[in-house]
Amino acid sequence: MKKPLETVYKLLEIVEDRKKKDLSLSNLLIGDPNIDPPKSLLKALENSVFDGPNGYSPAKGDPHLIDAIISYDKVKANPSQLIIGNGSKTLVFIALKLLLQPNDKVCLFSPYYPAYQSLLLEFNAQITNLDYTRDYLNEIKKIKPKLVILTSPNNPDGQTFTKIQLQEISDLTKQLNSYFIIDEAYRNFIYDEEVSQDLSDFIYEDHVICLRTFSKALAICGWRIGYCIANTNLIKQMAQTQLSLFNPLNRIMQRALTKYLKNPDIGFNSKSKHIFKSRLNKVCSSFAKRNIKVSSPLGAFYIFLKLNLSDTQDFCIDLATNTGIILWPGYDFGKPSFIRISIAQLEESKIESLIERLTLYLKENKVNII
Ligand SMILES: Cc1ncc(COP(=O)(O)O)c(C=O)c1O
Repeated sequence: MKKPLETVYKLLEIVEDRKKKDLSLSNLLIGDPNIDPPKSLLKALENSVFDGPNGYSPAKGDPHLIDAIISYDKVKANPSQLIIGNGSKTLVFIALKLLLQPNDKVCLFSPYYPAYQSLLLEFNAQITNLDYTRDYLNEIKKIKPKLVILTSPNNPDGQTFTKIQLQEISDLTKQLNSYFIIDEAYRNFIYDEEVSQDLSDFIYEDHVICLRTFSKALAICGWRIGYCIANTNLIKQMAQTQLSLFNPLNRIMQRALTKYLKNPDIGFNSKSKHIFKSRLNKVCSSFAKRNIKVSSPLGAFYIFLKLNLSDTQDFCIDLATNTGIILWPGYDFGKPSFIRISIAQLEESKIESLIERLTLYLKENKVNII
C-alpha cells in the first residue's frame, strides 16, 4: 500500500521536469487561487512594514487581529475562544495533538482533505470513514468516537452540510462526550446562498472545534493565516503548544490583516466566488458537450470524478507524463477510483481545450468517467 501523497510527490517531480524542458503543463493539482488578493490588503501590508512591534507575537495571536476577526466574520464567541495560527493546517495539528491518545477512535467523513488522514495516522488514531450518503448518525452512535471530523464545503467534492445536519452531528457528539471538528476552509465559496446564510448562524459549543483560514477567502495561501474557535480551555492549551512547538504567526501579516479587516473590500468575496463558480460551470458544460454528465459542486473549487478504475494513481502519472495534465488521484482522499480537478488556477479561456485533451486521452486509453 502506498503512503499518502506518494504519487503526488511524483507528480510534482513531473511538473518540475516539464517546466525545465519547457513542455506543456496544465497543473490542476492544488487549491491555491490564482487571483490577486484585495488591493487594499496589499496596501495595508505595505503600510504595516514600518509600524512596530517586530518582536514575537502573543501566543494566541495579536489581540487586535482577534477582535477584528470576530467582528469581520461575525463570530459568536469571545476572544478567549479564538486562536490565530500559521494556517489552519498547523492548528489542526495542534488540536489533534492535544485531543488524541494512541488508538483513540476517530470518525472522518470521506472523501477527506488528505492532511486529516496523514495527521490521524501520525497520532495513531483508529480511523473509521463515514459516508454522508449513509446513516452516519447511527454509525457514530455505534462507534462512540473521541472525535468526529468533517469539512464543509468539502475538499475534494464540494459537499456542503446544512445547518440542520451540522446541528444533528453536534448534538450527538455532545451526548457521546466526543469532540466535533468542522473545517470551514471554503466557507466563502458556498454557491447556494440559502445554505451559506444558514451556516453563519451555527452556534459553537464547548465540544465543537471550528477551523477557518484566510488562505482561500483572500487568495493569500502563502501568508499562512488561519484561526480556530473552540472552548477557552482548549484554546489556552493550543496557545501553549503553539508557543512551545512553532512560535506564533509573524507580526507584519497580522498587522496588515487587522488593518484590512477593519476596512475590507466588501465586493471581493462575491467577485472571487463568481470567478470560481463560472470556471466550475464551464468545466461541467464542456464535459456535457461531450455527453459526459458532471454536476457542479455545491462549494469549494474542485471537481471530483469517478473513473472505471480501481485506483487512479498510475493513471494520473501516465496522464501527467503523456499530456502535462496534472490531477490529484482519489487515493489520498480515501476514494481510490476518483480523480480531483482543481479549478483554482484554471483560466476560463483554457477550459475547453483542457477538457478536449483530457477526454481524448481517456478515450484513447479506454477509461471512462462513471
Ligand atoms: C479542507 C482544508 N482545510 C485546511 C486547508 C489548509 O488551510 P491553510 O492554508 O490555512 O493551512 C486546506 C487547504 O487546501 C483545505 O483544503
